[in-house]
Amino acid sequence: MEKPVIVSVVAQKGGVGKSTTALGLGRTAAEQGIKTVLIDFDSQGSLSTSVLDMGNIPKGKDSYTFVKTHDNYEPIKVADNLFVIPASLDLLKFDEESFESFFLLGERIESELKNYDLVIIDTAGTLRTTVTAALTASHFMYSPIELNSYSLKAYDDVAKLFKNVRRRLNSKLDFIGFLPNRVHSCREIEGQRVPFQLDEREVYRQLLEMPLGRDNILYLVEELAGIRRSVQAGNSGAARDVEQATKQVKDFSQAILSRIGL
Ligand SMILES: Nc1ncnc2c1ncn2[C@@H]1O[C@H](COP(=O)(O)OP(=O)(O)OP(=O)(O)O)[C@@H](O)[C@H]1O
Ligand SMILES: [Mg+2]
Repeated sequence: MEKPVIVSVVAQKGGVGKSTTALGLGRTAAEQGIKTVLIDFDSQGSLSTSVLDMGNIPKGKDSYTFVKTHDNYEPIKVADNLFVIPASLDLLKFDEESFESFFLLGERIESELKNYDLVIIDTAGTLRTTVTAALTASHFMYSPIELNSYSLKAYDDVAKLFKNVRRRLNSKLDFIGFLPNRVHSCREIEGQRVPFQLDEREVYRQLLEMPLGRDNILYLVEELAGIRRSVQAGNSGAARDVEQATKQVKDFSQAILSRIGL
């Protein structure tokens, strides 16, 4: 596989755990010695604010500038093996730009981030040019999803976006799976972890029957009070809820890393 491996986190819905899981995946990969860059491609910048003091970002380091300028670019280091290219409101300008913008991000990653193993792109929760650009640049995408009455709509949105980008812009793009997130609680039935609540289990069953869902459920992530502190503190929290969250973050990250061959 060429270097770096590029993964986008996509869901056409806000608050489902894109930024949280992107950061958790980045932390876990970095701890395993995988040199990782997180690109915050959502103008809201929630991933950036959870790892950086946004008041103090050096000029020219944001992801819009990264894509638009041709100087040598160094991502900002936030931990051993973990680097970030933070968001800025300038990302909104992409929506006004021509179709060439779809290809710029991938070209810049190829020229500037050759020495990294993994690039994770966090995207916005609404369909924008930046989301299409992220998918055009990527080898892989995964999609956090909640198991509720909106899930089948979420499924349709992701399936449509994936198919369109793959057919028209990036034939290398591979969908590696859904990551059900904020599941109430899970139990084991016949050696398989499944949602405990009946309504969630029913949605889960339906998801497993969809063409993109079949064999494509990465891991069930529960509603975890400690997840925010877990991903922010670099998986080093001691409190019990942080410990529990850290275990699940490691488990889903491992599922993703093995799908992408790292
Ligand atoms: N498994 C979980 N358990 C509990 N809280 C969670 C879980 N996953 C995410 N959250 C919380 O839900 C909120 C939204 O998560 P996050 O910011 O990752 O979503 P997002 O998809 O990136 O949203 P947006 O579309 O706004 O960027 C955050 O406060 C986060 O801490
Ligand atoms: Mg987000």
